[in-house]
Amino acid sequence: MKILFKLIGVVFFLVIIYLVINHQPNKTYQWNLPEHFPEPLIPLDNPMSQAKVELGRHLFYDMNLSVNKTKSCASCHLQEKAFTDGLPRALGATGQLHPRGSMSLANIAYVASLNWADPLTETLEHQLLVPLFAEEPVEMGMSGREQEIINYLSKQPIYSTLFKKAFSNQGISIHSVSQALASFQRSLISGNAAYDRYLLGDDTAMSSKALKGMNLFFSEKVECFHCHGGFNFSDSSSHATEQLKLKPFHNNGLYNLDANGAYPELNQGVFSITQNTEDMGHFKAPSLRNIELTAPYMHDGSIVSLDEVLDHYSAGGRNIVNGKNQGDGSASPLKNKFIKGFDLSQQEREELLAFLESLTDEEFVKNPSHANPWIELN
Ligand code: HEC
Ligand code: HEC
Repeated sequence: MKILFKLIGVVFFLVIIYLVINHQPNKTYQWNLPEHFPEPLIPLDNPMSQAKVELGRHLFYDMNLSVNKTKSCASCHLQEKAFTDGLPRALGATGQLHPRGSMSLANIAYVASLNWADPLTETLEHQLLVPLFAEEPVEMGMSGREQEIINYLSKQPIYSTLFKKAFSNQGISIHSVSQALASFQRSLISGNAAYDRYLLGDDTAMSSKALKGMNLFFSEKVECFHCHGGFNFSDSSSHATEQLKLKPFHNNGLYNLDANGAYPELNQGVFSITQNTEDMGHFKAPSLRNIELTAPYMHDGSIVSLDEVLDHYSAGGRNIVNGKNQGDGSASPLKNKFIKGFDLSQQEREELLAFLESLTDEEFVKNPSHANPWIELN
């Protein structure tokens, strides 16, 4: 009996020691995911922590991370626009126009390949080095100025505290900057639109118009769901229970400059990377969550409203009748087979639009934990 007590004592002692050693206040992260969302897939070497998210938020909103202190990540990714910027094409710190438009960061933790047409960039840690350091086009323009970033961050008492909380005593480096920025972005979960509340049992969340539009969206008549399906309304999604990363890209018939399906120079989709003709004009189907807030649309912002997006799809592609991009996208041999065109009555059009609007998550765009932390300080 005595031995048993001793044994229990020893086991108890070992458990306590184990708990003490493993106790890191930031080890567990509270996702607060909506019930119908799977857990995101997180790189093993960058587990989530509230301290990293908080540091990342400060970095995301800090204009000192650009060459002339005029742009932060948030300048092109504004919370009230679901982290897009309202421009057809983004404008870099030195005034250079990006060939493509800024993209929403809602639910970015689930996106299988980042950017409009880039099968090579899979992690946020990797992606953000482009806006920070790329020279062509310039976004934040910090190429060759890595040490400047470290010096600036090291001099700010608030960053000393934030880095210590997030990374203990590992010090300040571009590596830790990128890990924190990635963690903040992964915290941007949007799953409380009227559509989500309807799914979770609130029968009154969506109007009957929007419900009819939902049935249309998921029908073989308009085919949207093939590419914009799943809980995140994009077939380029991955999560913890689906380890296989699908990275599909499609040509949705926006351009056809030469009857062979050519797209304008600089924006030729996956073709720019692979040089395979069949990849011409292939882009990622972006998530349609919060789509009402992210106009103008498509990689080059060339469609101004959701009504015109429906014109594009109902015609089975876009026919540009004059100018340098002249050509009939609906006749492109590279166009995906689901872009086949359809007839919508005015009522059906309104229903489909009402459904797209039911994907707007007001809580997400107003959530104070995603907002500019520097404003609170001033
Ligand atoms: C000058 C405007 C601008 C700035 C500043 C900027 N971005 Fe972007 N962002 C863009 C554009 C444009 C794209 C699309 C790029 C492409 O497809 O080539 C993009 C794409 C992204 C994506 C991919 C989204 C998706 O759905 O695939 C992420 C993530 C992102 N940016 C994060 C950041 C972070 C983090 C910062 C700050 C370090 C930042 N951006 C700074 C304009 C900007
Ligand atoms: C074959 C796949 C496919 C189908 C089917 C499809 N889309 Fe798309 N969608 C895409 C791709 C790819 C893009 C990006 C194209 C680009 O920018 O060049 C896109 C872009 C969009 C955009 C603009 C997104 C943004 O952030 O700018 C909207 C809105 C949209 N689609 C709505 C719809 C609707 C509504 C339907 C059904 C009527 C539909 N799509 C059917 C592939 C598809």
